[in-house]
Amino acid sequence: MYRLIRRILFFLKPENAHHFALACLHFVCSIPGVKSLLRRIYHRRNQTPRTLLGQTFLNPIGLAAGFDKNGEHIDVLSCLGFGFIEIGSATARPASGNPQPRLFRLKNDRALINRMGLNNQGALAISQRLSKVDRRCPIFVNIAKSHDSTIIDDLAIDDYCESVKLLVDVADVLVINVSCPNSGDGRTFEDPDALGQLLPEIRRVIGDKPVPYLVKVSPDLSQTQLESVVTLALENGAAGFTATNTTINRDGLNTPANQLDLIGAGGLSGRPLHHRALKTVENLRRLTDLPIIAVGGISEVEHAQAFVDAGASLVQLYSGFIYEGPALIRRIAHQLRL
Ligand SMILES: Cc1cc2nc3c(=O)[nH]c(=O)nc-3n(C[C@H](O)[C@H](O)[C@H](O)COP(=O)(O)O)c2cc1C
Repeated sequence: MYRLIRRILFFLKPENAHHFALACLHFVCSIPGVKSLLRRIYHRRNQTPRTLLGQTFLNPIGLAAGFDKNGEHIDVLSCLGFGFIEIGSATARPASGNPQPRLFRLKNDRALINRMGLNNQGALAISQRLSKVDRRCPIFVNIAKSHDSTIIDDLAIDDYCESVKLLVDVADVLVINVSCPNSGDGRTFEDPDALGQLLPEIRRVIGDKPVPYLVKVSPDLSQTQLESVVTLALENGAAGFTATNTTINRDGLNTPANQLDLIGAGGLSGRPLHHRALKTVENLRRLTDLPIIAVGGISEVEHAQAFVDAGASLVQLYSGFIYEGPALIRRIAHQLRL
């Protein structure tokens, strides 16, 4: 069934397909009884709930950040079998993102390249929306620095903190995105000096609120860089890690080089990312016992299993959801051995 839907969607430009698919899902879900039918189809019953990060997860498969940037679709997406949903990245300032086109399919690689540029309605609007959302699963809220190359140094830290202040009361878990490759100034926040200033401030703003925060890392860090991120995160009370964001590496793709040149800059996600993300999870697990949320290239049950075997507590997907549809979530939920 999803193959047919995907054929239709893939006739459209990727970003249009995204909005069209969500509009259709909202329409279908507005028909009385459909939401509970979808839940019966896609939510595996009789599974043992897991408690982690102060939350109860009916299954360990989540929707990764970037799919529902503004938290507008939580209600309908939660019918499709996800055990948790991460919204965002939210930024302190609303942003329209980079000019289109900014999202590309690499069909031969079952991958995507994006340079969305952190388009979102801003932390305030998202916070107001989230305060009214009916929660059927834990909601992770991903926070990034506003997409503006003039916001640097102390201003950048204030910018993150403003979002944390606005969102801490509506998030079950906060995810601090320090690894966005489309950040506007071309920098990520994983540099030890920057991260060493940012994380204490994040911790201070969260204060004694019972909301854990995770640090989302890039798959492109060297071992030394990863070690310094982990050290700083541990020193500053992070509750765990999300690994990984998209990669800027494009080695070994089936997509021809001239097509990649035409696409231009952007982060690569999907199947070709899996190996790098798995290596990052393995390296992280050697460095810490804290929970790791693994994400990157899950398009089969085996990919999710490899993450869990490497020590991940939960997994997430985005590109695999585009290529395989919600049946992938159900398959993983049925077959994953924890
Ligand atoms: C179109 C698109 C937009 C994304 N936007 C964000 C974002 O705003 N914040 C973030 O932390 N990650 C973002 N991501 C990265 C995903 O959350 C995820 O880390 C990455 O895509 C790897 O997972 P996947 O291979 O299952 O897609 C985005 C990914 C895609 C494809």
